[in-house]
Amino acid sequence: MQTIESNGARIPLIGLGTWDLRGRACARAVEEALRLGYRHIDTAAMYGNEAEVGEGLRASGIGRDEVFITTKVWSSDLRARDFERSTRDSLRKLRLESVDLLLIHWPNPSIPLKETVGALCKMKREGVARHVGVSNFNTALIEEAKRLATEPLVNNQIELHPYNDQTRTIATTRKAGMSVTAYSPIARGRVKGDALLSKIGKAHGKTAAQVCLRYLVQQDIIVIPKTSRSERLKENSDILDFKLTPAEMKEIAALASPHGNIVS
Ligand SMILES: NC(=O)c1ccc[n+]([C@@H]2O[C@H](COP(=O)([O-])OP(=O)(O)OC[C@H]3O[C@@H](n4cnc5c(N)ncnc54)[C@H](OP(=O)(O)O)[C@@H]3O)[C@@H](O)[C@H]2O)c1
Repeated sequence: MQTIESNGARIPLIGLGTWDLRGRACARAVEEALRLGYRHIDTAAMYGNEAEVGEGLRASGIGRDEVFITTKVWSSDLRARDFERSTRDSLRKLRLESVDLLLIHWPNPSIPLKETVGALCKMKREGVARHVGVSNFNTALIEEAKRLATEPLVNNQIELHPYNDQTRTIATTRKAGMSVTAYSPIARGRVKGDALLSKIGKAHGKTAAQVCLRYLVQQDIIVIPKTSRSERLKENSDILDFKLTPAEMKEIAALASPHGNIVS
């Protein structure tokens, strides 16, 4: 699996998103994804599925050090004490000693960022998180977090697909030495019926979802599509054996609109 390097971290380019995956279905999807070759799983305290993610990891038989696990602390837990408790709860549920990446899930304007970033960096110093980063941070927040952090921030996870324009956030994230992870990278399944993506897909023998994911990874953006279906686990990771032309990249970029966000 290809990786993206940022501030000392090496993050596998394709991961499995797990929002909305619960119980047995979650453990099964994680196990199957790892057996298929995925090496990166994205979860969060807020998803309520960390125990099942851990279960899937153990059932896969893949070594712990071969898999990159990300979890996140929810925005109601950004006071230092809550942050630490949430992180330790996540580890207990995952049954892991550390995660590979710990993210502030969503900023909370009523809690000083200094306190939260301090707690985040403490988790890295204590070895509970190998790397730390942020999610849903805009340009101003990225710059503020970087200024406050005493440990390298390696990643900003943001909503990103062909329908929204995150050019400025991506530029600021990269300027800070951080990589970008695209969440909802297939626009929650909406790309499936897209005429342009389907047309381009036909030329490459790929589906619209594969063209969409290729469009992102071809810009060195990490993707974490979620699926509960076996055939789509394979489809969503089978995107490294073709290349979009500069003209195709440009056509896809033109799908973006300023109000194209679905989640955030
Ligand atoms: N940091 C944050 O604030 C944040 C916010 C949202 C999401 N995330 C993370 O990002 C991950 C991905 O985002 P997401 O779950 O919102 O959306 P997504 O991955 O863009 O789309 C998932 C949806 O698309 C369907 N799908 C999957 N593969 C497909 C394919 N090849 N063709 C057609 N449909 C397909 C899935 O249905 P089936 O399951 O039936 O295949 C599901 O309904 C999440 O699971 C979560 O880990 C993070």
